[in-house]
Amino acid sequence: MPGRPNYGIDAPGVIRNLMIAGAAFVVVALVLPKFTVAHLELQLFPGFLYAGGSCFLGGILMLLYAKVGKFGHRDRMLAKIPWTGVEVVLDVGTGRGLLLIAAAKRLTTGHVTGIDIWNAEDLSGNGPEALLQNIAMEGVAEKTTVKSEDARQMSFADASFDVVLSNLCIHNIYDRRGREKACLEIARVLKHGGSAVISDYKHVRDYAKIFAKAGLSVNLHSPDWLRTYPPLRIVVARKAG
Ligand SMILES: C[S@@+](CC[C@H](N)C(=O)[O-])C[C@H]1O[C@@H](n2cnc3c(N)ncnc32)[C@H](O)[C@@H]1O
Repeated sequence: MPGRPNYGIDAPGVIRNLMIAGAAFVVVALVLPKFTVAHLELQLFPGFLYAGGSCFLGGILMLLYAKVGKFGHRDRMLAKIPWTGVEVVLDVGTGRGLLLIAAAKRLTTGHVTGIDIWNAEDLSGNGPEALLQNIAMEGVAEKTTVKSEDARQMSFADASFDVVLSNLCIHNIYDRRGREKACLEIARVLKHGGSAVISDYKHVRDYAKIFAKAGLSVNLHSPDWLRTYPPLRIVVARKAG
């Protein structure tokens, strides 16, 4: 299939809002001198300019992650697994297949299943059609399965997967109990001797605690400040064999 795969822009609405807020702050900073008395202007002008610049910078760093940084971050996550090629893998919140496709490329006889509920606000152009198109372009159709399924309630039997992956998904579940359910589902479907590699920008310590309480051994890795914004931590949880 001709064309290049497109892995989308994460949280496009947040980036848009940061840019709009940045522009608004800069406009206010520029028109402020016309409407304020001198001493007030002196205090407010740098503040508005700083707020505008911060919003712009946040938006640009998020765009840089989406366009460049996430590929390095994906490879850092996948490097936590000593791949043999025969693994049965699950990608939770697969979106347009960033992890699913790269994992499939590391497999010979193994297989990757990706699940998602396709939230439009979490990833630009999110949906099974976009994912299937990327899978076809990357030539991994035979090694992958796509399912519409919620991380909090998976249909898979206990101990189905050697590896469970998830990037930037679980924080999108807004209630604490829902995030706990998703982590417990990940622990449940993981085989004995298997590993979960979960990355997110917040709540990661909570995920680590939930995995530890479920009996998994846990390692928390610091964020990759150069490639990810917001900075993404990785938790690796292993289920004893
Ligand atoms: C920011 S995107 C990241 C997609 C992909 N993991 C990546 O790194 O490119 C987050 C994904 O998680 C999915 N998601 C959010 N809540 C979910 C849930 N409860 N169950 C399954 N997927 C979910 C969204 O639909 C979206 O595709």
